[in-house]
Amino acid sequence: MEKQKADILEFKEMKQQGKKITMVTAYDYAMMSQVDQSDIDMILVGDSGAMTMMGYESTVHIDLDTMLVFCKAVANAGKHTFMVADMPFMTYEIGPEQAMINAGRMIREGRMDALKLEGGERIADTVAALVRSGIPVMGHIGLTPQSSAQLGGFKVQGKNLQSAKQIVKDALALERAGAFAITLEAIPSPLAKIITETVQVPTIGIGAGNNCDGQVLVIHDLLGLFDRFTPKFVKRYANFGEDMREALNTYAREVRDGVFPDKEHSFNMSQDLLEQLQNELKNEGIL
Ligand code: KIV
Repeated sequence: MEKQKADILEFKEMKQQGKKITMVTAYDYAMMSQVDQSDIDMILVGDSGAMTMMGYESTVHIDLDTMLVFCKAVANAGKHTFMVADMPFMTYEIGPEQAMINAGRMIREGRMDALKLEGGERIADTVAALVRSGIPVMGHIGLTPQSSAQLGGFKVQGKNLQSAKQIVKDALALERAGAFAITLEAIPSPLAKIITETVQVPTIGIGAGNNCDGQVLVIHDLLGLFDRFTPKFVKRYANFGEDMREALNTYAREVRDGVFPDKEHSFNMSQDLLEQLQNELKNEGIL
């Protein structure tokens, strides 16, 4: 049976029913076409695309126009999967007005179903303004890669009392602001459990243990397509990088050996037509 696109109310019901929500990132048409035909519930056009698609060291280097290219490509394939996109670094930090203008573009031009913003109490007013304007917002707290420089790198958060309490407060602030779900990144599992049991909206974990209402992974990590580093919380489900290199080497070898293209992958012409062509070309002194 064809997958039905879920909406934010269904995600809340899934939490209430204890059904796990599944999410991966997607950045282009080809990859999204596969995700859309899979059992994945929700995708994220993540600003991690700055690293996985563009090779930057950090997510802060992607701008709105580039994110929009990714969103448009994904939306062209996303017929049965709920689509969330990250608002890029510095497209919402000035305040609600800036956020509304940029969010409007991501929804209207990028054809996303929802947007994700990094931050808790600090951006609650902005989240509330977007929600009031009709845009579903997913929060993102714990390790927030857009502020990794401030956090001293890609490090586990909530490891002391003050930081753990702040993350709980951030979750509550996002819930009050109307976020429909909250991503919890790189925090201790027991802290994620407390948050998941405290808020009514689904929590989506990445490096936050097994007690969240759902899980998200970067698709390149999951498929073995990103080699630069692998966080502890990543599990590889395939080795597409290896498969890709093998396919490319086989293709190169077959071309060099004259094995490809064979008859099956070539076009023929009738013998009559061929002879006619050769005769005419000879008559005209071309052959
Ligand atoms: O950009 C991204 O891929 C993310 C996930 C790590 C949740 O924000």
